Amino acid sequence: MAADASILTPATPAPPYDAARVRRDFPILATHVSGHPLVYLDSAASSQQPLAVLRAVEDYATHSHANVHRGVHALSQAATAAFEGARERVRRFIAAPSTREIVFVRGTTEAINLVAQAYARPRFGPGDEILITALEHHANIVPWQMVCEQTGCTLKVAPINRRGELLTEELEQLLSPRTRLVAIAHVSNALGTVLPVKRIVDAAHAQGAVVVVDGAQAVPHARVDVRALGADFYAFSGHKMYAPTGIGVLYAREELLGAMPPWQGGGDMIRTVSFEKSTWNELPWRFEAGTPNISGAVGLAAAMDYLEDLGIEAVAAHESRLLALATAELARLPGITLVGTAARKASVLSFTLAGVHAHDLGTILDTQGVAVRTGHHCAMPVMTFFGIPATARASFGCYNTEEDVARFIAAVARAREVFA
Ligand code: ALA
Repeated sequence: MAADASILTPATPAPPYDAARVRRDFPILATHVSGHPLVYLDSAASSQQPLAVLRAVEDYATHSHANVHRGVHALSQAATAAFEGARERVRRFIAAPSTREIVFVRGTTEAINLVAQAYARPRFGPGDEILITALEHHANIVPWQMVCEQTGCTLKVAPINRRGELLTEELEQLLSPRTRLVAIAHVSNALGTVLPVKRIVDAAHAQGAVVVVDGAQAVPHARVDVRALGADFYAFSGHKMYAPTGIGVLYAREELLGAMPPWQGGGDMIRTVSFEKSTWNELPWRFEAGTPNISGAVGLAAAMDYLEDLGIEAVAAHESRLLALATAELARLPGITLVGTAARKASVLSFTLAGVHAHDLGTILDTQGVAVRTGHHCAMPVMTFFGIPATARASFGCYNTEEDVARFIAAVARAREVFA
């Protein structure tokens, strides 16, 4: 009888994470900028795509492209299979119970707007409250302000401390039976702070509120299990997790999604149409009016395969090491202020250099081949809280190396000399 290897053989240790090899999967990282090899530290804005994703999209366009759900011909069936296969891939990636809960959208922003307009707007009115945090990206502020204007409900904001951490107890004190919806980032895009989502979900549910999670900056850096988190809605984008732009996901609990009116009208979201009345398609297609981003969905599924093959936990551990290294090295440079020093952070290092506007700093880094984002990072209230107009932000992905960190630190040191 064959031995059961899983019992008799000691577990093989995982091979060490080889970021230099991972880097070679991303052709764009061979680019030179101003004569220097590119150091790409802007993955929080948009990550790069590995060959596996580029090839999956090309293969789909070369062999399978047609419109979905509309044809009996072979290519339409192939495209539909690819698109619906991608939906199943997404379901598994975030451990959602059903593909009926997976809506393809353009990105996180569209997902949150969908919830705002199709869940909140028809239900909320004067006296109702929406609770967000002071860490939110504009995409998790403005849609709720619009709902408040449309319905007369009120926006409340839970505060943060000088480390950029949410004051969770104060958030809990702001919760009441008036709170209908809580909208929080899983990870702050401007500061990298990781929020205690599960604790907030439990507290919000205890008051009868639903919870919307902006997971754009979390999904590339941590395994997300929507069932374990208990989130009612979870939104994320493909282009921050090694997939193409223009594709994203809204996970919505079936019970809630099924009770929501459609958001946009058009083809594919209907069952029947007459001039008197239209009736709606099943979930999730009821929320996908018009031809969707089919190749984007294919690319997203390939990116999920890629990330899981690398091992999300291994990627996260590698990025944490780089973040810790870069933080320690940067803090040693005179004139640097770290903005966002939360105990729990992911991937993002925001900072200022005394006397230098972040845009000027970013320009000098660019001349040395180092790409960082500068500005308010679509989180102006966070900048206002810290009393600054902008920061420079380095963000790390699966392909960054210790050499990238060294080049980044050297480039900032050089910028200090230029502006001295
Ligand atoms: N939300 C993106 C960022 O944080 C664009 O840079």
